[in-house]
Amino acid sequence: MEKIISLCKRRGFIFQSSEIYGGVEALWDYGPLGSLLKNNIKEEWLKRFVQNRDDTVLIDGTILMHPDVWKASGHLKHFTDPLVECKNCHSRFRADHMADGRFVGEGKAKVKNQCPQCGSEDFTEAKQFNLMFKTFLGPVEDETHQTYLRPETAQSMFTNFKQVQESMRLKIPFGIAQMGRSFRNEITTGNFTFRTREFDIAEIEYFVKPGEDEKWFDVWVEGWEKFFLGLGLKKENLRRYEHKKESLAHYSKRTIDIEYKFPFGWSELAGIANRTDFDLSQHSKFSGKDLSYFDEESKKSYIPYVIEPTLGIERLLLALLVDGYEEVKGGRTTTTEAAKEMEVVLRLDKKITPIKVAILSLVRNKPELVKKAKEVYEILKPHFMCQYDELGSIGRRYRRQDEIGTPFAITIDFETLEKDDVNIRARDTMKQERVKIKDLVAILKEKLEG
Ligand code: GAP
Repeated sequence: MEKIISLCKRRGFIFQSSEIYGGVEALWDYGPLGSLLKNNIKEEWLKRFVQNRDDTVLIDGTILMHPDVWKASGHLKHFTDPLVECKNCHSRFRADHMADGRFVGEGKAKVKNQCPQCGSEDFTEAKQFNLMFKTFLGPVEDETHQTYLRPETAQSMFTNFKQVQESMRLKIPFGIAQMGRSFRNEITTGNFTFRTREFDIAEIEYFVKPGEDEKWFDVWVEGWEKFFLGLGLKKENLRRYEHKKESLAHYSKRTIDIEYKFPFGWSELAGIANRTDFDLSQHSKFSGKDLSYFDEESKKSYIPYVIEPTLGIERLLLALLVDGYEEVKGGRTTTTEAAKEMEVVLRLDKKITPIKVAILSLVRNKPELVKKAKEVYEILKPHFMCQYDELGSIGRRYRRQDEIGTPFAITIDFETLEKDDVNIRARDTMKQERVKIKDLVAILKEKLEG
């Protein structure tokens, strides 16, 4: 994990938020490469679950919602974690993270651990702590104006259920998808970007006929897993975890987590929940609006059940970095310079790499080569996310690109000036081939999309 954190900082993937002020716990900024990577992951999600399906539509709801939403959804009452306090130094911890096992209910924490701050073993009983961040709508800071930053994106898909269904003339089964910022005032943090206080959730609320929910749940577990495998995560690093009754969220009849084998152990990457008709029923009750669906075939109305595949984008990004990170001792190349060093290759799937093509002039002290390399850069830029690099030896520049996962590096050399062709080097195989500049865009497209 230390190596991943160091790579992320060194190469501009992820920085600690407000670092010049000493940083803030559990808040991370995505740098130039990290934000490109994140966008590419989001785009893949969008392509697979919205663009390639004819039964799912996208919405973009607000982070702040009517305060009653959180009463109806049960988050005000139930969106809590058990919190214990060290009686000696008053540090606070999540009871279920300190005790053995995945879940310890209120007041039942058997805290065997020592306080990591002061070593004391004397803790208070666990109390439930609500994870939602409070804020106020407008200039009056009283209880009637108080609302919360959303802890999940799901709720606006429920509150907009009727409008989306009617405006898009959707028939059940259908999905509403949303991706966006979510906030949780987590008690325990750590493990880099795994558990943060601000993150992007990508989730789908898939509305189905009651009675067909269990079938659709299984379909989504398979579909969700395939998405992660399709992005290149290794099968052996993924597994399913079925939640026991006592650890189910208040809205869920059944939940399966897709876990990833992170360096700190198997942990939740994503989930699939059967939310039943809980949310739509609650919002009908609290808003007084009918949120049932009229089935044209049976001429009957019902409140649909909901299957929810959910995912934290940053967790997936972290899993992809971990999965793709490879160290090659002694180097991959045979040059003496490289052989002395440990080389890092980030084997990210080419669909999501931040940079698709690197453009390298063989040397930088030959103006005609540099000019030609910049011309090639101009040709490729409108088609691919490119990086132009002329600093350091060619071997070192290949290694710099390998380390950030760039699938292809183009070298402009003396032969280019004579034959108008360039050298393409592939990250994974290190194989090199010559390609005419006029064919470069088409060939790279084929390689990147094929
Ligand atoms: N709407 C359902 C829901 O929000 P969740 O399991 O609480 O379910 C969804 O969260 C996903 O968000 C998780 O599977 C995880 O990937 C991610 N996630 C949850 N808490 C997180 C945190 N504090 N930091 C980063 N990602 C988080």
